[in-house]
Amino acid sequence: MTTTESRTDARIPDDVAAAAVLPLSYTDEQNVTYPAFRWLRANNPFGVAHVEGFDPIWLATTQEHILAIERDPATFSSGRDEPMVNDRASSAFLQLMRGDARTLDTLAYMDAPEHTKIKNVTSSWFLPATARTREEPIRALAREAVDHLMSFDGRCDVVTDFALHYPLRVIMTLFGVPREDEPLMLKLTQELFGTTDPEEQRAEVAPEPDVAARMWRAAIADFAGYFTELAAQRRANPTDDLVSIIANARVDGELLPDSFVVGYCVAIATAGHDTTASTIAGAVQALAQFPDQLRLVKQDPALIGGLVDEALRWVSPVKHFQRVVARDVEFAGRQLTEGDHIMLLYPSANRDEAVFENPDVFDITRRPNRHIAFGFGPHMCIGQHVAKLEMRILFEELLPRIESFGIDGTAKYGAANFLSGLKTQPITFTKA
Ligand code: HEM
Repeated sequence: MTTTESRTDARIPDDVAAAAVLPLSYTDEQNVTYPAFRWLRANNPFGVAHVEGFDPIWLATTQEHILAIERDPATFSSGRDEPMVNDRASSAFLQLMRGDARTLDTLAYMDAPEHTKIKNVTSSWFLPATARTREEPIRALAREAVDHLMSFDGRCDVVTDFALHYPLRVIMTLFGVPREDEPLMLKLTQELFGTTDPEEQRAEVAPEPDVAARMWRAAIADFAGYFTELAAQRRANPTDDLVSIIANARVDGELLPDSFVVGYCVAIATAGHDTTASTIAGAVQALAQFPDQLRLVKQDPALIGGLVDEALRWVSPVKHFQRVVARDVEFAGRQLTEGDHIMLLYPSANRDEAVFENPDVFDITRRPNRHIAFGFGPHMCIGQHVAKLEMRILFEELLPRIESFGIDGTAKYGAANFLSGLKTQPITFTKA
């Protein structure tokens, strides 16, 4: 492409832009965000969104564009701003608070070479082979979760009664956080990611225009207090848990500064369970809506891996990550300027007709299933093997004990454009 189009040509119609960017849109993905993504992929796959209350932002909606951006972190930086899109008031608040510093010293805020060094601290711990050595304790937690489900008389809420607690328990067990602190970890995570959801907001900040950023900061401050203390304990008395590894890691011969230990712990403590819980809940919802798929996987448990991947594609619990343009560049026929912001819309890429046949059909037999629910490139999710392992084990334990699932009422979804999914979904089930 030799010519570049002007920003006016690139502008996305306001209603479509609002559907893709506003947190509230994600409470009704079927009728709001997915139709908008479909329109964008067909008509303006890399355009600029102008949404009231937000700075203009480029929306990357195809898998081809998102992969190209993630492959080129020198041009599309993670280290120049927050990893998630905020409204203008919240961006201003965060900028004021952090000054020249970073909001959080954690991977999603870093570029190479710093990013590579810090990622290496835990990369061997997160390898598939290492994750598999934890299969036994994870299976014990999966059985506990399924037993709890079986204690209901064929009717429950798949999120609050089943999906929510198992991934939290898995990650906190691997992490070394005691069970009695799990409710606190869950509450802070919900506050951190539910900053735009009125139901998650703390009363003292709810009326502020920059409520999202204030919530984010308050939750991080509470996490920091907790993990600084836990890391100090693990420095004094190391164990084999993940907090011990992070607290005692040496980079260039030095222990990590406290802010990096906190940043690492917050990222793992929060990124690891909400996402997985949303995927599990979405998988059960889909198995209720598509009973032929439940029959298939019950007949052939070798399809459980396919079920997990299709659930990740279908749910895409991480709705976006943000990148900032590091140099003037032409991309996708558009002229981008240093400092421009880009929203990588993973759910759109995971329904991209150029990659997936019948993308709006839930099909556990897809081969290959090239979803990018875990992102791509150097920032690709560090916890992907743990997440897939714990979901596989849960379905191995669950499916033999279930004959059917049914939908028993209206679902409710979180009002967030970063990390979101089912909040409640009443279901029925019959035991095998
Ligand atoms: C269904 C479960 C999960 C999904 C869908 C998911 C998705 C993602 C995505 C999309 C990214 C950004 C990738 C990119 O920028 O290209 C990411 C990064 C990350 N995830 Fe996950 N994640 C999940 C589970 C986990 C778990 C279990 C952990 C930890 C135990 C975890 C820890 C992280 C961390 C630390 C990062 C930042 C990596 C970096 O910037 O280098 N995630 N995840």
